[in-house]
Amino acid sequence: MKPGLEKLLNRVLNEDALAGIAEIPDGSLDLIVTDPPYCLGKDYGNESDKLDPEAYLEWSKQWIDAVIPKLKPAGSLYVFLTWRYSPEIFCYLKKRLIMLNEIIWDRKVPSMGGSTRRFSSVHDNIGFFAKAKDHYFDIDSIRIPYDEETKKARSRSIFVGKKWLEVGYNPKDVWSISRLHAIHSERVEHPTQKPLEVIERMIKASCPPDGVVFDPFMGSGTTAVAAFRLKRDFIGFEVNPDYCRVIEQRLLDAGSFKLEDATNSTCSQESARKPKLKQPTLFEHALAAASKPLETV
Ligand SMILES: C[S@@+](CC[C@H](N)C(=O)[O-])C[C@H]1O[C@@H](n2cnc3c(N)ncnc32)[C@H](O)[C@@H]1O
Repeated sequence: MKPGLEKLLNRVLNEDALAGIAEIPDGSLDLIVTDPPYCLGKDYGNESDKLDPEAYLEWSKQWIDAVIPKLKPAGSLYVFLTWRYSPEIFCYLKKRLIMLNEIIWDRKVPSMGGSTRRFSSVHDNIGFFAKAKDHYFDIDSIRIPYDEETKKARSRSIFVGKKWLEVGYNPKDVWSISRLHAIHSERVEHPTQKPLEVIERMIKASCPPDGVVFDPFMGSGTTAVAAFRLKRDFIGFEVNPDYCRVIEQRLLDAGSFKLEDATNSTCSQESARKPKLKQPTLFEHALAAASKPLETV
């Protein structure tokens, strides 16, 4: 492991992504899964999604330039975007990396309401890029099993024993996976939380089992939880301390680190950098949150 990497692994780091990325050793990440603000004016408790388009594109170039050197030679990057700005950002990324796919995430939005002067947008644009042609990609880990009906329909002798019938088919570049509606069991307090199923597919395919996944804009921590569930290490930053607490809780619920374990849990910029004798219990966290201004929790 590259020196300097270990102190960042599997921690909830309440930090600005650009400052945090500078601390990651070059050539140390297997995979970057990034879901930055989309420039749609969402309220993340900060102004990050409210830049004007020009400033947004400039800022996007800054984090892109900062993260690319951190990838290993066989590493890859997925970036979630909206159709509004994906053309410019994909063009910029294509100058630095090999574009492998544009994945359309069909959020399976039900047909109610929507735009009346144009078509309603119901998808996100995900760019999939690699540093080199021999990038890591484990297709077998993400195959989709054929249903029994299809298997039966292929029971003629020419199909019998065919490996692909048993191992399933490889996913295409349109992913129809439902967004997390308000009462979904995964749902937490974050306006643009992504489903685990989407992120887990990326990690299984593009991060080796002992690898490191990086998410510069953690939000509710979907990448961290997915990495934990799939036994990969993660690094991530989130600028809003409230969301950092959401991430900690999700990791605890998933059975990850215990808050008592001083090496793994950091919820504020201050605590992220200082060794601790003992982390507060969840109850103490709640008390602190209720009685102090958020920045100091
Ligand atoms: C689209 S959301 C990520 C959602 C996440 N993928 C999930 O599943 O919950 C983007 C997040 O980036 C955070 N953010 C914005 N600017 C940031 C910055 N400069 N550094 C770190 N985090 C930032 C926002 O607070 C927001 O929570």
